[in-house]
Amino acid sequence: MLRPYVIIVSEVTLDGKLTLYRGASSKELMSFMTKDVYKYLHGIRAQVDGIMVGCETVRTDDPSLTVRYVEGKNPTRIIPCSTANVPFNANIFSKDAPTIIVTTQRAPEERVKKIQELGAEIIISGEDLVDFQELLPLLYKRGIRTLMVEGGASINWEFIRLGFIDELRLIHLPVVVGGENVPTLVGGEGFKSLKKIIHFEITKHFIIDNFLITEWKVKTLPKY
Ligand SMILES: NC(=O)c1ccc[n+]([C@@H]2O[C@H](COP(=O)([O-])OP(=O)(O)OC[C@H]3O[C@@H](n4cnc5c(N)ncnc54)[C@H](OP(=O)(O)O)[C@@H]3O)[C@@H](O)[C@H]2O)c1
Repeated sequence: MLRPYVIIVSEVTLDGKLTLYRGASSKELMSFMTKDVYKYLHGIRAQVDGIMVGCETVRTDDPSLTVRYVEGKNPTRIIPCSTANVPFNANIFSKDAPTIIVTTQRAPEERVKKIQELGAEIIISGEDLVDFQELLPLLYKRGIRTLMVEGGASINWEFIRLGFIDELRLIHLPVVVGGENVPTLVGGEGFKSLKKIIHFEITKHFIIDNFLITEWKVKTLPKY
C-alpha cells in the first residue's frame, strides 16, 4: 500500500504525559518551551507536506499548525473528525494554509456545508470513525508524501496500531506532572502482547537548552 511517510512528533513530559490533566490544553505545558525548541518543531513542519492532529486536540488546544519560528511553507492541515465537530472559529480555518477535514458518513450535512464555506475541504472516509487505511493512500495520491502527526494520544494510537509509522521524534519536557488518567504519548487499547509491540531504533539525540530531543526509526512493526 502506498502511503505517506509518517513522522509522529510530540512534546512529552518525563513521565510520558502529553498535557497537565485530561481535558487541559497542552499549550499550558508548552508555554515554557524556548524559542530554539519551537524552531526545531517548526523546522519539521516546514519539511512535510501534511500535518495532522486529532479533532479533540483542535477542540482543546486550538492549534494553528503553521510554520512560524523558521522560514518555510505551511503544510496542509488534515484533521480527522468523525462528526465534523470542529469549532467554526478554530485557528485551523485560517487562510495561511489549506485545511482538510476528514469526516465520516455520520457528519451532519449542515456542518459539512459550513466547513466548506469556511474554505476547508471535506473528505468522507469511514462509517463510524475515520478510516486511516482508506485515507492514507488517498492522501499519498494527492501528493502528501510526508505526514507529520502531532497527536493527541488517540490519533497516535491509531497510527501505531495500524503500523502506519516510520519515525517518532520526541521533545522531552523536563518536568513530571503525574496523574493516572492524563493522556500519554499513545492511548487506545494498547497491544497487550510482546509479539505485537513496535520496536524502535534511536537515530539521533541532542539537547536544546534543557530539552532532550530524541529521534527514532521503526525497527520492527507489530506481527498480526
Ligand atoms: N504534547 C503534545 O505534543 C500534544 C499534541 C497533541 C495533543 N495533545 C493533547 O492531547 C489531548 C488530546 O488527545 P486525545 O487523545 O484526547 O484526542 P486526539 O487524538 O487529539 O483526537 C481524538 C479524536 O479524533 C477523532 N477521530 C476521528 N477518527 C478517529 C480514529 N479513527 N481514531 C481515533 N480518533 C478519531 C475523535 O473525535 P470525534 O469523535 O469528534 O471524531 C477522537 O475523539 C489534549 O489534552 C491535547 O492538549 C498534546
